Amino acid sequence: MAEALSKLWGELESIEFPTLSELFAVPDRLSRYARDLELPGGLIRFDWAKTHLFADAERVLVRIAAAQNLVEKRRQLFEGETINNTEGRAAEHTAQRGVGSPASVVEAEALHERMQGLVEAIHEGLLGEVKSLIHIGIGGSALGPALAIDALAREGAKVAVHVVSNIDGCALEAAFKACDPATTLIAVASKTFTTTETMTNAASAIEWLSEGGVDDPYGRVIALTASPDKAVEWGVDDTRVLPFAESVGGRYSLWSSIGFPVALALGFDGFAAFLEGGAAIDRHFLETPLEENVVVRAAFADLVYTQALGCQTRAVFAYDERLTLLPDYLQQLEMESNGKRVTADGHLLDRPSAPVTWGGVGTDAQHAVFQLLHQGTHLIPVDFLAVKMPGHDLDPIHHKILLSNCFAQGAALMAGKASDDPARAYPGNRPSATILVDELNAATLGSLIAFHEHRTFVSAVMLGINPFDQFGVELGKAIAKQIDAGGGDGFDPSTEALLAAAGIGV
Ligand code: F6P
Repeated sequence: MAEALSKLWGELESIEFPTLSELFAVPDRLSRYARDLELPGGLIRFDWAKTHLFADAERVLVRIAAAQNLVEKRRQLFEGETINNTEGRAAEHTAQRGVGSPASVVEAEALHERMQGLVEAIHEGLLGEVKSLIHIGIGGSALGPALAIDALAREGAKVAVHVVSNIDGCALEAAFKACDPATTLIAVASKTFTTTETMTNAASAIEWLSEGGVDDPYGRVIALTASPDKAVEWGVDDTRVLPFAESVGGRYSLWSSIGFPVALALGFDGFAAFLEGGAAIDRHFLETPLEENVVVRAAFADLVYTQALGCQTRAVFAYDERLTLLPDYLQQLEMESNGKRVTADGHLLDRPSAPVTWGGVGTDAQHAVFQLLHQGTHLIPVDFLAVKMPGHDLDPIHHKILLSNCFAQGAALMAGKASDDPARAYPGNRPSATILVDELNAATLGSLIAFHEHRTFVSAVMLGINPFDQFGVELGKAIAKQIDAGGGDGFDPSTEALLAAAGIGV
């Protein structure tokens, strides 16, 4: 089997990929590779036409998908089977959106109802006046809420949410400065309820409430966790604990009670729309044949670049200020999921794993890093994300310029420009994909996130990786803990000297 797979990857590698202009000579290129999906929040266009995907490559990729049991693995994912084999559990984020094993969907609905009850009680004033929420979490317990709040609640939030992740006290201090302890709730978001940064920040938040005159500071805390017992032990009242299932991975947890700040800011209806937008992509991914599936197509293009064309990075540029945090979110999703050097069955991966995901916001990034994209020696596939309807009331010229720049970049990367002066020549044939969203709302954001989750899953299955564990983050954490506990001598001379220079030597 391993040999057969290697042969298939070899076939992909040996394909002579036509240039993008050559690919566009095929008349139905656009209708084949650009697809509009009518989704609950509006239309989203997934345009993969300016990538090097074409029939010969897809035929090989479909055979790799068959060899890696993609369709069966997809079924296992949605039916709540133990697909996260290294941790011995399922990966049930889709059940949070109502698409999963019936028992897990029922459980998720019950937990969402509990969350809805608390959200509505807060909105009705049953916990006193609440003007702000400081949401404390890190990684998957913060990136999703931060993205969703920034994207959807810049204006008109029912409660102002401040997301704090960094252990650097500057982050928490900034939130304190923006809030009044008398009208602030604290959400402690941690799947494990043990993460050092989160628990240290949470303890400081309790102190702040207490020093700010709040009699029962623990009574102002809401825990969002898969370890409810630990939250209660720490001091949270069990009526304020919003649990979620252990089978929901940290970077996939925005759909669970980790989405509490989103529901509090938007109202529960907004959160429900977010779930519905995600569910629509679940259904598309689950029910659409591989060849027509926008999720599979995106993953196939990613694999063409990493596996056949030697690309080590992939860039994402959001041409919408409200999606500034999307590249950060996708960076964790893709790099923590697929940045692995062993396969799910414990063998060394004999191919590149995930590309480095990076990016920024347009048009800012154009004036900073696009030089390399257009004329550098790296080939970097780019995703552009744009929204048709502006998120502001200023002169429409702003949005026209924003969108025209976005589309101009994709066109320029592809077409290039000849010149007698090498410094002024653009080689072109540089790939990009464009996602154009009609309107940015809770549902379309849900669809965008679910699309990327499944895209990551497909790449993982094709490579034989388990995308749902993250053992690579543990070693550094353990060493930091040793140092904090005053132990851990015997480091290399450089580390010893740094510790001594910073005054935290052992
Ligand atoms: O260190 C990595 C990680 O485990 C992420 O996977 C996770 O999202 C983050 O830390 C936070 O973990 P927790 O939600 O348990 O605090």
